[in-house]
Amino acid sequence: MSTPPAERLLYEGKAKQVYAADAPDQVVIHYKDDATAFNGVKKASIADKGVINCRISAFFMDKVAALGIPTAFIRQTAPRDQLCHRVEIIPVEVVVRNVVAGSLAKRLGQPEGQRLARPLVEHFYKSDALNDPQINEEGAVLMGYAHGWELVAMREYSLSVNDMLLAFWGDLGVDLVDFKLEFGRLGGRVVLADEITPDGSRLWERGTGRKLDKDVFRRDLGDLSETYRELYRRVFGESI
Ligand code: TMP
Repeated sequence: MSTPPAERLLYEGKAKQVYAADAPDQVVIHYKDDATAFNGVKKASIADKGVINCRISAFFMDKVAALGIPTAFIRQTAPRDQLCHRVEIIPVEVVVRNVVAGSLAKRLGQPEGQRLARPLVEHFYKSDALNDPQINEEGAVLMGYAHGWELVAMREYSLSVNDMLLAFWGDLGVDLVDFKLEFGRLGGRVVLADEITPDGSRLWERGTGRKLDKDVFRRDLGDLSETYRELYRRVFGESI
């Protein structure tokens, strides 16, 4: 199946496009090579990022489904394309942290690298216009962004995904520092949507602390395409 024609484009985000699929209740998610940081202020094209992230996310979504967690993902249909259920995205992003880094370190004036005694779940209101401000679960409910029961499911699912990802990356000699998930509504249920990729995760090489994620681009630490190729080799045991 090839990428749908331009007239089917429903929405274009910073790293992905969403197309209408043949079935009205499905969409095709197309992964671009574009990378952005700081809410689109910094931009670049990263060779093969779309192909790498599409396959990594498809791989992890299958693992999530195997845990019994419902997802929007159906199957990969082309190197950059995934067929997914059409969902209503819940505008609350969930970040799970195992180690202090990024905006948590900045907000609290703490150095990066301190391991947390247990995973910390944080929530952010999904709004480009507002730069994704942090919100708590009570605020998300009272503002009408999510129902309480949805946030309960999102927390439980996120912590299960964290356990799976920690073990998976750990076996490859990589520490999972933190990651972001998005969820959607489908047939009265909450399902995992969006992606699980090194764009939305922090991955530090065990022992050296070398960054293997989008911070390489955000912080000008090296060649992101090369970094993602290395991750791809570790995950799939073959080169791209
Ligand atoms: P943060 O420390 O900047 O809040 O980021 C936490 C995690 O969320 C990190 O793994 C990167 C991911 N993330 C996104 O996926 N999208 C974003 O827009 C931001 C700011 C972070």
